[in-house]
Amino acid sequence: MVDTSPNTLREWVREYYGDTLKSSDDLQTDACCVSGPPPDYILRALEHVHVDVQSRFYGCGFPIPEALAGLTIADLGCGTGRDVYVLAQLVGETGFVHGVDMTESQLEVPRKTAEWHRERFGFAKSNVDFHQGYIEELAMLPDNSVDLVVSNCVVNLSPRKDLVLAEVFRVLRPGGEFYLSDVYCDRRLPKDIAFDPLLHSECLGGAMTDFDFAQLAKKVGFLDPRRMSTTPIAIRNAEIQKKVGAARFTSDTVRLLKLDGLEARCEDYGQVAVYKGTIPEVGPLFRLDDHHLFEAGRPERVCSNTALMLSGTRFAAHFDIIGDTTTHYGEFPCDPTIAHTEYQVATDLAACC
Ligand SMILES: C[S@@+](CC[C@H](N)C(=O)[O-])C[C@H]1O[C@@H](n2cnc3c(N)ncnc32)[C@H](O)[C@@H]1O
Repeated sequence: MVDTSPNTLREWVREYYGDTLKSSDDLQTDACCVSGPPPDYILRALEHVHVDVQSRFYGCGFPIPEALAGLTIADLGCGTGRDVYVLAQLVGETGFVHGVDMTESQLEVPRKTAEWHRERFGFAKSNVDFHQGYIEELAMLPDNSVDLVVSNCVVNLSPRKDLVLAEVFRVLRPGGEFYLSDVYCDRRLPKDIAFDPLLHSECLGGAMTDFDFAQLAKKVGFLDPRRMSTTPIAIRNAEIQKKVGAARFTSDTVRLLKLDGLEARCEDYGQVAVYKGTIPEVGPLFRLDDHHLFEAGRPERVCSNTALMLSGTRFAAHFDIIGDTTTHYGEFPCDPTIAHTEYQVATDLAACC
């Protein structure tokens, strides 16, 4: 009988990322290279990330949203810190990025290169800090102290995903966001697969269905999860492929917002949102999720949840919301926005390592 206690699962993962894997090439799936190149602003930031950090990237996407200047961010399961050092450039000297990881040898890499990065970014003072700890217990971060939490291919590894979500909700400021890329499965996996040490460590065994994950997120208060993108993952190892059988895995990027007043379904109050075109890195087209694309200056009808996401968060400065919640017109048909239908722009944030 395999021991599947939380501590054992963490030990498997610590050993795998701390000792077994030497570089991204050792992974048994293509999770870290699931789709095309990232947006230009992320590519430019990646040019300033140390090669030792980049060569040990084990993520499955680009959980790096827009409009980050001046924010305080936490990266859960930051590993060797690739995303931390991209985010550090995007928040600038007035922002700050905390990396949290339980594996000491993973953290050695970004700590050793902290001064190199500070100089490379031209910052007077480093704006990053790395904490060894569990993402289920974020004691190093006070309540309501973080604007954005990101995570790249980590939550699936947690034996207590409910605690991770509850901790993220606690540390986020009202209007804050949890933006994560992670592995999802099209089914609930049987225990012998879920608790296979290699499958678990490779981010497959602990993958949830997107529905189950959304239910967990709603329970802690993230009432309206929004998916940004979904990309199939290919398994490179024949033995692993045989074990998982017909199960299919994807890398999804998801946005969870901490907002008072979100409702369980889309309601129609006749509200309209107009994007001002003022987020420099995305220019005239802003994507809120996989069916809400906004074009600068173009009015789009939105449900009250979407109106709140655009007016109660850091996006408020970039949107005009016309109308309020005085008059209810019934359930909102949550169809794609007109801009989404017309442009069908691929803003998938996952990319090749
Ligand atoms: C798949 S790697 C991803 C690393 C990093 N996000 C990246 O993109 O390269 C998973 C990382 O999460 C860390 N990790 C897994 N479970 C954790 C937990 N419960 N608490 C803290 N860190 C954890 C591991 O130590 C490892 O560094």
